[in-house]
Amino acid sequence: MRLGVNVDHVATVREARKGRDPDPVRCAVLAEEAGADQITIHLREDRRHIQDRDLRLLREVVRTRLNQEMAATDEMISIALSVRPDVCTLVPEKREELTTEGGLDVLGGGPRIAEAAKRLREGGVRVSLFIDPDLDQVQASLKAGAQAVEIHTGRYADAPNQDEAAAELHRIADAAALAQKIGLEPLAGHGLDYRNVGPVCRIPSIVELNIGHSIVGRALSVGMLDAVREMIAQMRFRGPGREDPPR
Ligand code: PXP
Repeated sequence: MRLGVNVDHVATVREARKGRDPDPVRCAVLAEEAGADQITIHLREDRRHIQDRDLRLLREVVRTRLNQEMAATDEMISIALSVRPDVCTLVPEKREELTTEGGLDVLGGGPRIAEAAKRLREGGVRVSLFIDPDLDQVQASLKAGAQAVEIHTGRYADAPNQDEAAAELHRIADAAALAQKIGLEPLAGHGLDYRNVGPVCRIPSIVELNIGHSIVGRALSVGMLDAVREMIAQMRFRGPGREDPPR
């Protein structure tokens, strides 16, 4: 299973002082050195963390794959078409939210999302849609011309008890299985950390996780290289067929 490391929150700390450090580009290089398969960033309309310069520099520097999360706006599409990340993940965006709160409503926003997906695909950029674990949204994503869907794991991560976490995990697994069956690459992410990543890794159809906040937070204690290595170890150990480690 691939790991995309989201370095937005390195830029969040930098933007607290509007200076040059810490540098998300440097952290992206370290993440790749530690084994990350992809670097993910969200260029938000309000530029609260990642800036346009970061995106351009990352395009130069990233050797694995660059995944740009963005709203399906004209401004973002033209930036993506000029920078050409390997993948664009279309996400809903609200100015007042702390982070991406829900999945994209592909069913409701069909033509606009389909048009954005078409422009990106024609520009040579792979298109993924960030959706809730909902079978109708998976079907709508195929119709909208996506090549992949990233299934929102936030409700699983925030589940108040085991039963709700298990129910949400089932929804994620069902959505991923349907995506795989109809030819969409099933990905997942949001709110995943070292403790809750295991059960998601055991869903066989999911091929990639995008994880940011927990890795960047852990990097404050152990450094970026070890934070990424620990997550990769956790994903491998907790992957299909493995038992939970003894406590
Ligand atoms: N995937 C998507 C589409 C996101 O918007 C985010 C948050 O930027 C992530 C993954 C990573 O989430 P987290 O920072 O909670 O790991």
